[in-house]
Amino acid sequence: MKIFLDTADISEIKRLAPTGMVDGVTTNPSLIAKSSSDILATIKEICAEVTGPVSAEVTATDYDTMLKEGLKLADLADNVAVKVPLTVDGLKVCKTLSDQGIMVNVTLCFSAAQALLAAKAGASFISPFVGRLDDLGQDGMNLIQEICTLYDNYDFDTEVLVASARGPQHVVDAALMGADVVTLPPSILDKMYHHPLTDSGLKAFLADWEKTGQSIL
Ligand code: E4P
Repeated sequence: MKIFLDTADISEIKRLAPTGMVDGVTTNPSLIAKSSSDILATIKEICAEVTGPVSAEVTATDYDTMLKEGLKLADLADNVAVKVPLTVDGLKVCKTLSDQGIMVNVTLCFSAAQALLAAKAGASFISPFVGRLDDLGQDGMNLIQEICTLYDNYDFDTEVLVASARGPQHVVDAALMGADVVTLPPSILDKMYHHPLTDSGLKAFLADWEKTGQSIL
């Protein structure tokens, strides 16, 4: 399963990309606003840091303007995936861009019916928002299971990109369900490295090693 970073913070991307764990990046208008940076310059910079797909979201809502924005974003680098909202116009833009060989990430997906339409529109990625469904008292991971089954039934190529993750357990559950990608804020990737038994186990090993007086090098 691929791991994408869900951030527009270039310093966080530079910190985590060298771990080799980062397969791509997702951004959205809120993340761009949070980073207080210029969208075009930021996407270009992120695309130079990672080789995998970098999602850059359109901000118009009508077909013609979304398409122009999408083409402009796609022109920034070969690894841009144009992100469009799951609306009728968004799906039309998805079809137009994917027919031209441009990667499209269809975002703000909250139902399996929506995911089915995105696959038919040729999306490279579908982004179901699990955390926002959990926040409403629903089980966001049920949606992932439904979409994975539905896509498997018809051999759709669209990758299931689990978005709005709230913690490491979402990542594990997504992997068990066979989702293709999970996008994570850097703080969740940091949490995935840690386990208290790893820390205490290492401490004990090093204390015992010290008593031997040996050195490997
Ligand atoms: C990613 O593509 C989404 O925009 C993001 O995961 C949304 O996460 P949030 O619900 O924490 O804002």
